Formats: sequence, structure tokens, C-alpha cells
Amino acid sequence: GAPVEVDLAPIAEGQIVKVFWRGKLIFIRHRTPDEIKAAADVNVASLRDPQPDAARVKEGKAQWLVVYGNCTHLGCVPLGNSGEYNGWFCPCHGSVFDTSGRVRGGPAPINLPIPPYAFASDTKVIIG
Ligand code: FES
Repeated sequence: GAPVEVDLAPIAEGQIVKVFWRGKLIFIRHRTPDEIKAAADVNVASLRDPQPDAARVKEGKAQWLVVYGNCTHLGCVPLGNSGEYNGWFCPCHGSVFDTSGRVRGGPAPINLPIPPYAFASDTKVIIG
């Protein structure tokens, strides 16, 4: 599929938007400073799928999290700004994800993966 261009300007801080690329759901989350801090402050070694938040965002763009939008357990769509870590909560079997999209509880085996993307400008991202 062709790359998808997304205008970030209308996405307010704290908001999550859904886009599709190659038929796959993708979340673009405009993280608040508190959400970024919560994601960065985690003891990475304690995670089921240990990844530092810095490895899941682009340098200098930590306010933008771009992740695939299907639960890594059995593919349900998790609810944003929900769950114990205010990241996502999957209503199907209770997987919990943090504000970096990393699994923090429930049966999901791995973090929400990051699709290929790049910033074309401060307000435009190209997925694919
Ligand atoms: Fe999300 Fe099972 S599909 S917890």
C-alpha cells in the first residue's frame, strides 16, 4: 500500500486519532508532558517486553506516539486513555498498555508494535 500522510496540527494534546495503513489500524497519540514522563520513568528491566520509551518514539518528538492499534493478544482494539497506566485497556481479555503502548498486564505477549513512519515536517507524518 501507498504511504499515508497525516496532518498532526489538528490533533490536540491528550488526543488519540485512528488512521489506516495497508488495512491496519494505527493510533497516533499526542502525549501530554505527564504521559511522556510516565512512559520514560518506568524501570525498563521490569517490563514483559523491555523497551525504553525513547526507542519507541522519534528523537525530539516524544509527544508523538505512533503504534499499531490492535491488541497483541488476539487483535481486539484497545480503548485509549484507559487502564491502570492510562495508556490503553483491551476490553476483550484485560490487557493493559502504558502511555508508550507497552504491555503492562493481561495476556498480551508483546508491546503494541511501531509501524514504519517519518516526520515530513513538525506537523506532518508519513506512515509507510
Ligand atoms: Fe486484547 Fe485478548 S485481544 S487482551
